[in-house]
Amino acid sequence: MMQCAVFGASGGIGAALVRHLAARDDVALVHAGSRRGAVPQGPKIRPFRFDALDDSLPATCAQIGGPLDLVLVATGRLTRADGSGPEKALRQVSAAGLAELFADNAIVPAMIARAVQPLLPRDRRCVFAVLSARVGSIGDNRLGGWYAYRASKAALNMLCRTIAIEWARTHPLAVVAALHPGTVATGLSAPFQRGVAPDALFTPDISAAALLRVLDALHPADSGGFFAWDGAPIPF
Ligand SMILES: NC(=O)c1ccc[n+]([C@@H]2O[C@H](COP(=O)([O-])OP(=O)(O)OC[C@H]3O[C@@H](n4cnc5c(N)ncnc54)[C@H](OP(=O)(O)O)[C@@H]3O)[C@@H](O)[C@H]2O)c1
Repeated sequence: MMQCAVFGASGGIGAALVRHLAARDDVALVHAGSRRGAVPQGPKIRPFRFDALDDSLPATCAQIGGPLDLVLVATGRLTRADGSGPEKALRQVSAAGLAELFADNAIVPAMIARAVQPLLPRDRRCVFAVLSARVGSIGDNRLGGWYAYRASKAALNMLCRTIAIEWARTHPLAVVAALHPGTVATGLSAPFQRGVAPDALFTPDISAAALLRVLDALHPADSGGFFAWDGAPIPF
């Protein structure tokens, strides 16, 4: 029976991931973490609060206990806390805006990886997956724009790849994956859904189910990869 943790469980996709995991027969417990928002409730769900940008995170994770078979990081943001962005042109790029999105999209998941590392089993398969975004692919960038979001997700992908290399030595059965969830109808994408064809806009439930299918099929040899909701690899 698996023990799972979802960070960002108050988000659209994060909450759906918690619900889907809690409904599975092979899952005993889902630790559902949020910075401030409400998380789904249920007999198998254990809510917790966390702040990944201060020193409290290692103690928070130690309290979760373990071992953790699956850790999902579903945090992230596209616009700034003041609602501005994403940038369409270089003149809209600011140091403060870059710093804010790098913190939320790259630093937060990296600090979570560091804090959960002691809870990951070394003698059996475990999965650490983060929600990245296809627009974070450098090779796939043909449209431009969205500077801070793209660059912070590219940094996240590099952090995951580097973690995967380290854990291949210390946790040989671990799978580290960066995932693109599709375009999903959540608060994050709400202002940008107009140009999206209806069949290309997923509900959080469809995306969560697809992402968990992808993770179930990954092997340690796939660790460090970047995958879309349908399992297709995405170039870095
Ligand atoms: N929706 C899409 O179409 C789409 C497409 C590609 C990639 N993604 C990625 O998927 C992930 C989830 O997105 P979503 O659509 O579910 O967005 P969402 O509904 O806005 O949820 C985002 C979640 O991230 C949390 N969060 C943000 N900054 C945080 C921080 N510093 N510390 C802790 N929690 C933080 C928020 O928590 P609070 O409630 O505490 O603020 C919220 O729970 C993001 O990484 C996003 O980039 C989404």
